[in-house]
Amino acid sequence: VIRDDAAAVHALAADIVERCVRAGDHPGGPVLGLATGSTPLGVYRELGRRHREEGLSFARARAFLLDEYVGLPTAHPQSYRSVIRDEFAALVDIDPTAIDGPDGEAEDVPAESARYDRAIAEAGGIDVQLLGIGTDGHIGFNEPGSSLVSRTRVKTLTEQTRRDNARFFDSAEDVPHHVMTQGLGTIGEARHLVLLALGDGKADAVAAAVEGPVSAFCPASVIQLHPRVTVVIDEAAAAGLQ
Ligand code: F6R
Repeated sequence: VIRDDAAAVHALAADIVERCVRAGDHPGGPVLGLATGSTPLGVYRELGRRHREEGLSFARARAFLLDEYVGLPTAHPQSYRSVIRDEFAALVDIDPTAIDGPDGEAEDVPAESARYDRAIAEAGGIDVQLLGIGTDGHIGFNEPGSSLVSRTRVKTLTEQTRRDNARFFDSAEDVPHHVMTQGLGTIGEARHLVLLALGDGKADAVAAAVEGPVSAFCPASVIQLHPRVTVVIDEAAAAGLQ
């Protein structure tokens, strides 16, 4: 779906989340998969507006984060726990204890990764998974070369991603080198994937993901194997499509 501007992209993604939340067809409440980065923030603001002005309630919802920095204290303002707390949970009525994410401070990272995949499965899987896309084609933090069937695990960020994310930190050196991320196999188990991209910096990655070969060189291309995906982008991010 190609929309004129960011506001229209955010509104459409919010429509998909709202439909899921109102549908009430997941026993135990709707399960949302939340991305961070800058792209989905407008979706969270729009959901906050719908909560305040239209009574959209997340009281029964549960949420799972896509990824987390390793080695950054959870209390750091740029930990993805903090970002989701401030940019989403603070705007709606979701129970903060119903939000789970990989623990970037865990001493036993493989055990924490396995716990996280289990927690998602025990919640009955994710109904709607919001995704951004990296300029190098990553989803979650599955950088190029990631196995298409990977599970939650630790990954090393590419220099390109660390440069892209430096804007969130005081200096480029402060960007962590490591992350824990849902794997491409984990992400693929969500029932509906909603991939968002804005701006011409994403045009090449979007073209590779949507029209290129399915390949670990562009991890986002794995969405082509999923039965239910909505790619919502602005005109600039669509510039590379045939
Ligand atoms: C964030 C995430 C990343 C971002 C991607 C795009 O949780 O998993 O894949 O979605 O790096 O980031 P922005 O939206 O900041 O361009």
